[in-house]
Amino acid sequence: MQKKIILFASGNGSNVEEICRFFQQDPNILVAGVYTNNPHAGVIQRLKPFGLEARIFNKSEFSNGGLLKEISDLEPDLLVLAGFLWKIGGDWVAKFPKKIINIHPALLPKYGGKGMYGNHVHQAVKANREKESGITIHFVNEAYDEGAIIIQKKTPLLESDTESQIAEKVHQLEHRYFPITIAELLKSEGA
Ligand code: GAR
Repeated sequence: MQKKIILFASGNGSNVEEICRFFQQDPNILVAGVYTNNPHAGVIQRLKPFGLEARIFNKSEFSNGGLLKEISDLEPDLLVLAGFLWKIGGDWVAKFPKKIINIHPALLPKYGGKGMYGNHVHQAVKANREKESGITIHFVNEAYDEGAIIIQKKTPLLESDTESQIAEKVHQLEHRYFPITIAELLKSEGA
């Protein structure tokens, strides 16, 4: 049976693009929707080659149950947060238990929580002179970045790495491992 995934992004959308590319030729997995809270997000343009259009939503739809109903009606097997920056409410977690996953650009539990996203994370990693960073893919619960971890992958850092070089190393890991982790989850009983 074909599985359906829904993607959420707030910005550039390079992860969304990789996920769309990965599943483009897969008859078993359908990207059934891409949702963004940001009408200026780069992800909107990135969808064009895939024949997909982003659904732009606002804060009230997100929190008043309207969007939750719209997405529930699509009967998705997995919701994927790929650079999505709004906090997922308890009503979403209750509706989709163990069916919402997030990617975080660091090795949680370090560098997680409110305000820790995108380059803020890499800045903090650099400031602390970490010898490594990486990615965490985890289930989403009511607390920011605290849901059960699915996988982590590490990359070594050099003292000389700039913040953008750290970001680049982390993005490489994300692009390599996020799509295959989604595929594996959908194959398992978890999704
Ligand atoms: C990714 O690095 C992702 O891990 C991060 O935002 C970036 C989005 O990049 N997510 C968070 O920081 C969530 N706390 P992209 O828009 O190019 O996919």
